[in-house]
Amino acid sequence: KPLVFSGVQPTGNLHLGNYLGAIRKFVALQEENDCIYCVVDLHSITAQLVHDDLRGQIRSIAAAFIASGIDPEKHIVFNQSAVPQHAELAWIFNCVARIGWMNRMTQFKDKAGKDRENASLGLLAYPSLMAADILVYRATHVPVGDDQKQHLELTRDIAQKFNIDFQDHIRQAGVGVDIVVGEEPIHAYFPPVEPLIGGATTRVMSLRDGTKKMSKSDPSDLSRINLMDDAETIAKKIRKAKTDPDALPSEVEGLQGRPEADNLVGIFAALTDKSKEDVLTDFGGQQFSVFKPALIELAVSVLSPITDEMRRLMGDTSHIDAILRKGGERARARAEKTMKEVRDIIGFLQ
Ligand code: TYM
Repeated sequence: KPLVFSGVQPTGNLHLGNYLGAIRKFVALQEENDCIYCVVDLHSITAQLVHDDLRGQIRSIAAAFIASGIDPEKHIVFNQSAVPQHAELAWIFNCVARIGWMNRMTQFKDKAGKDRENASLGLLAYPSLMAADILVYRATHVPVGDDQKQHLELTRDIAQKFNIDFQDHIRQAGVGVDIVVGEEPIHAYFPPVEPLIGGATTRVMSLRDGTKKMSKSDPSDLSRINLMDDAETIAKKIRKAKTDPDALPSEVEGLQGRPEADNLVGIFAALTDKSKEDVLTDFGGQQFSVFKPALIELAVSVLSPITDEMRRLMGDTSHIDAILRKGGERARARAEKTMKEVRDIIGFLQ
């Protein structure tokens, strides 16, 4: 069975972009894969060091996973800091990756802003830890939104450089498999990682500006639907969502140059597991005054059971804590197996 890994940061409220771009896919992938889903708390201190209620944030992401339908018995749900092997492998990857690779990351440039000298070293090394998250399990499939694509390409580069640089050591350690990279046959330890970025909502846009990503850091709460919003708030935000004055087109091509319309149709499609074509078959020619109420009803019917369940789970933290503890134990056992081999490949005495 393919091994799936993904992570979500415990910073700020989860929004519809996180849900449709990532968590909903995590749920769908459970049927046919082994899955490991992680609350990446170590990542959350890269941009902002001190958090008021980090523990509560970690629990609420775990609650969102469970409330959305992830089965923590069949699969693994845990928080990153419970498995120190992530940080250990990240250190090794810091020595594999080049500073130039990190400097090219658009997310680093965005988050560091103008005062780059003053960004934390952790923010620069962020993608190394992300590569370690995935490769410490030698996972091959990673469901994410479009904004993580560059980080996953870097993960492939790190794996490839490790495999090539340590080729002889990997052979001597008696681990790894023969694969072909380009034309070259090499003996590889880490597998190439496949990003799973697909569907109508790889990039859910702001409700206030269809050219900007829906994001936790947007100062306007009207720009996003939070997973914890109640029905009335969801309705208000969709009613106020920016649109253009035209009716919906009957073909997908007609959404070009209409980012707000495209976004709302994409959200509708993702919430019903349909394509944008299907949505336009039903709503082509209709005004937003007809489409928006249908979207409100749909969004509320999909999200409110999840919100209710999250609230219920958060009411008794001992249940969530037990899930995370058990998930952490299982993840640690698997990660340590990889790290024993990695230490051996590198030549550390253990
Ligand atoms: P994070 O916590 O910012 O976001 C979690 C997931 O939500 C997706 N996402 C979106 N998808 C569609 N439209 C949007 N507007 C939108 N906003 C966010 C993100 O792409 C992501 O899949 N670096 C990662 C966390 C991470 C990780 C990993 C992911 C750490 N280690 C290993 C995969 C594998 C992040 O900051 O996601």
